[in-house]
Amino acid sequence: MTEISGWCSHCGQYTEGLYLYNASGLNHFRCFICYQKGGKVYSPDIPSVSLPIDSPNVKEEIKIPSSLKPVLSSKRMDWETDPLLFTSLNQMFHFDLDAAASKENALCEKYYTEKEDTLCQVWHQDGQRIFLNPPYGRNIHKWMKKVCEESPFCEVIVCLIAARPDTSWWWNFVLKASEVWFLKGRWQSKGSSFNCPFPSAVVIYTPDQSSTVFKWWDWKKNLFYEASRID
Ligand SMILES: C[S@@+](CC[C@H](N)C(=O)[O-])C[C@H]1O[C@@H](n2cnc3c(N)ncnc32)[C@H](O)[C@@H]1O
Repeated sequence: MTEISGWCSHCGQYTEGLYLYNASGLNHFRCFICYQKGGKVYSPDIPSVSLPIDSPNVKEEIKIPSSLKPVLSSKRMDWETDPLLFTSLNQMFHFDLDAAASKENALCEKYYTEKEDTLCQVWHQDGQRIFLNPPYGRNIHKWMKKVCEESPFCEVIVCLIAARPDTSWWWNFVLKASEVWFLKGRWQSKGSSFNCPFPSAVVIYTPDQSSTVFKWWDWKKNLFYEASRID
């Protein structure tokens, strides 16, 4: 079982991270930041691996296989969209702006990079049908707040985000969306041999924020299962 939110055993914050284990098995949860300090990763999506750790229990430093280095680096905040998933969404929404990208991974002709800082841009001046796969991490609430601020002025904003319905950012910002589609299974980041280690949702904002439709989406077959509506 992979979980991605929890109480970090190192800094004590409730946030995103990974379960770690030591020689005796599943042990504790660490947030991504403290995780950089080391531990042993437990996940069905990636093989177990040892890292140097600041714990007296683990003295040995084991070399990390190069195939796992992307998983263990801060780049893991950037899960580039699965091409199949993006193609499917783009066929529905015809995006004209990728609101979080780099020159290398932009999915639309128009895009904002970290240097330009999307949070300081006026999105609706550059696009009306916006795709957003934000960096995964602690600042997600800032991104979702920005989406809510922009959505009255855009035709549609489609966000690919972690499905975290227990979090305050979800309650504050996702519940203002027009539709929430919970994805079946995990997608695979472009160029990665691992599945995304967290459940995902596609969250769709239109200028009308009066109600939210919840659906389950089998995105590989493009089948929808509708759940309920809040008015
Ligand atoms: C999850 S990746 C998504 C990349 C690509 N748009 C896709 O969906 O495959 C998030 C991207 O946002 C970029 N990014 C990080 N901070 C940003 C910011 N403040 N403004 C715009 N882009 C940012 C990262 O460099 C990264 O390329």
